[in-house]
Amino acid sequence: MNLERFSLEGKVAIVTGAGTGIGKGIATAMAESGARVVLAGRTRSRLEETEETIRGFGGEAQVVEADVSDREGRKSLVSAVLDAWKQIDILVNNAGVNVRTPPEDYREDDWDRVVNTNLKGTFFLTQLVARHMIERKYGKIIHIASLATITGIPLIPAYTAAKGGIGSLTYQLAIDWARYNINVNSICPGYIRTPLTRPVEESERGAYILNRVPAGRWGEPEDIAGTAVFLAAPASDFLTGQLIVVDGGWMAGG
Ligand SMILES: NC(=O)c1ccc[n+]([C@@H]2O[C@H](COP(=O)([O-])OP(=O)(O)OC[C@H]3O[C@@H](n4cnc5c(N)ncnc54)[C@H](OP(=O)(O)O)[C@@H]3O)[C@@H](O)[C@H]2O)c1
Repeated sequence: MNLERFSLEGKVAIVTGAGTGIGKGIATAMAESGARVVLAGRTRSRLEETEETIRGFGGEAQVVEADVSDREGRKSLVSAVLDAWKQIDILVNNAGVNVRTPPEDYREDDWDRVVNTNLKGTFFLTQLVARHMIERKYGKIIHIASLATITGIPLIPAYTAAKGGIGSLTYQLAIDWARYNINVNSICPGYIRTPLTRPVEESERGAYILNRVPAGRWGEPEDIAGTAVFLAAPASDFLTGQLIVVDGGWMAGG
């Protein structure tokens, strides 16, 4: 097989939440694969660290400060990218937050923050980008979902609702936009070592998780990056509407 079909040369990718964790891993891998990568998030200094890593190996990146839960933030992100690069080929909806509280005590303002970022922000940023992709009849949309998309995880009701919604949207958007040559897929990462999961890793549950992962370790952001590059590349052109679990065997264990 011609390995050029795995290349992102000539493509422009937006990765949200690209300053840390899984987003940083994906943005770096996409730049290594030849894409020009737009690094979006709320904290400029973290995004600049990712930018420095990418520039370090001769890759191309642009930092755009943006809050995906805010309508104006989403609009100015897409405008900035189109002004700079004139095209958007790949969107990775990775930005996400979580609040862990027993469902019986869950606060409405926490619910709003989690759902507005993880679900509403994802949908409306996707809508803006897709309008451009529909005009060009080309696009790859990748959501970073979760095991919570397909199974129960304790203490995270708003996160579960939002990630479940991302799973449903993956199916729905895939069938609406296939006619425009736009692929929509989700990656469901297992337990990956990032700032988001540090409190869990350091808690009692951290040891339980480690014992249950058949691979015998927590994942690293790089473990997700390969699947993201594949889903962004021409090699996956006939793959759409799928939830792809990358979890070191967790779900296979039942
Ligand atoms: N780690 C895991 O085990 C795991 C498993 C399944 C799914 N996931 C998902 O993977 C994604 C990345 O998580 P992570 O584990 O890499 O955690 P992380 O390091 O905390 O990354 C989340 C990123 O999202 C950005 N972000 C948060 N709210 C934002 C907003 N409103 N607008 C723009 N950017 C925002 C954060 O940057 P700023 O705060 O600077 O904006 C941060 O860089 C999330 O969607 C998460 O749900 C993670």
